[in-house]
Amino acid sequence: MSNMHATMHGLFISFEGIDGAGKSTHIAALAEAFRAQGRAVTLSREPGGTPLAEKLRALFLNDAMDPLTEALLIFAARRDHLVSVIAPALRRGDVVLCDRFTDATFAYQGAGRGFDMKLLATLEQWVQADEGLLGDPAGNQPMKPEVETVIEPHLTLWFDLPAEEAALRLAGARVPDRFEAQPVEFFRRVAQGYADRQRGHPERFARIDASQPRDAVWQAVRQLCVAKGWLA
Ligand code: TYD
Repeated sequence: MSNMHATMHGLFISFEGIDGAGKSTHIAALAEAFRAQGRAVTLSREPGGTPLAEKLRALFLNDAMDPLTEALLIFAARRDHLVSVIAPALRRGDVVLCDRFTDATFAYQGAGRGFDMKLLATLEQWVQADEGLLGDPAGNQPMKPEVETVIEPHLTLWFDLPAEEAALRLAGARVPDRFEAQPVEFFRRVAQGYADRQRGHPERFARIDASQPRDAVWQAVRQLCVAKGWLA
């Protein structure tokens, strides 16, 4: 039943973790695994995923700004991404694999920067209100839901790695952006932010021990999708 449901509606999976936790290779591998089973996969990322949101990404990652501007900018990018890419893909029945989503905002802007979590939760409600974006299960026609719901991932894979280890992995890897240039204490707070987010959403939020060897991490990723009935 849940499998049927997933096939009809598409699947939305997000990937989270502090910079350096190593999610990228597993996103590509999971896309391959779904495609091998005949599923259409939409790969995307935040901030970004649309021409407008990619422009906002460049500002967000490189320009200094006040915390509220930062929060509004990331949610503006998310709105465009949701309306023009994620919701249409889910209506088509695609598997949407998204490198970061709203949990990153709670972890980075909320826990990392200390921005008001209540305001972030309000923005989340506004920006991710379904309002018929996902359409009607039978006809795939947009419809007004009876209960206001918020669009969020069906599953969030959280690559958990101690901040010190992530810093070692990142050292010398590339020119750091505004976030990657933060001190290790910042990433400790971000990691704690993800842990708090998991406690608030235990049913969709899966922790993966990213300090394991790469193949063990991949097996954990795969196994979580097998357990859901999404992969054979
Ligand atoms: P990242 O996925 O690390 O991109 P790349 O692998 O190309 O560096 O994301 C970019 C940065 O944006 C990362 O440091 C986290 C930050 N970020 C936020 O601060 N808030 C958010 O809501 C999102 C989605 C990302």
